[in-house]
Amino acid sequence: MRIAAIGDIHLGADSSGELRPALLDIGEHADVLLVAGDLTRHGTLAEARVVAGELADLDVPVIGVLGNHDYHSDQQNRILQLLNDAGLIMLEGNSTTVNIDGTTLGVAGVKGFGGGFAGACASMFGERQMKDFVGHTVEIADQLRKALATLTTDVTVVLTHYAPTSDTLAGEPPEIFAFLGSYLLGEPIDEIGADLALHGHAHAGTEHGETAGGIPVRNVAAPVVKSAYAVYELNN
Ligand SMILES: [Fe+2]
Ligand SMILES: [Fe+2]
Repeated sequence: MRIAAIGDIHLGADSSGELRPALLDIGEHADVLLVAGDLTRHGTLAEARVVAGELADLDVPVIGVLGNHDYHSDQQNRILQLLNDAGLIMLEGNSTTVNIDGTTLGVAGVKGFGGGFAGACASMFGERQMKDFVGHTVEIADQLRKALATLTTDVTVVLTHYAPTSDTLAGEPPEIFAFLGSYLLGEPIDEIGADLALHGHAHAGTEHGETAGGIPVRNVAAPVVKSAYAVYELNN
């Protein structure tokens, strides 16, 4: 099974036609396209309409999550609706299954959030604001755990915007790792298992890494992938 993936396409209201030409023949190279959030620049509906125009009606299923930029204008629910209405399969703490030539692919997707990694992470202690910050990641990691646990597919992929490991952040300043991902997102992946975990958000990061438990992780942020999409071959 050939999984195409890209993140951080950051389309603006004037970006129509920027991406689509490179996606029109995607069916020749991949069986599905996974999109790892930061679809827009400022999370406006005008930008989301451009995203729909670029990603809808391709000859492979398109499955996506939102990123922090897509939340910026507090329109995330309407953006999810708009993209789902356009035929994309948008995940937000849930999962989907697609059948590809008799093989089932399950994707559990959620935006994720920050908090950091072993030795340098925020904890549920002190001010209410800090507990809220970490609590948001805990809640999202739990959504991912539940979404992943429902899947019994031949191939299973986890799709997030924030990183579940620090491996793929290499290249970013260590001072901002805590805003780029959390070990809490890696825990459900290692507990339940998956064939691959994909994320974006870390524009200056590294493509290849793994979770603490050894599950392959790929950072597919567009500036990292440096092409319209990366393709990963997975065998069931
Ligand atoms: Fe981004
Ligand atoms: Fe981001």
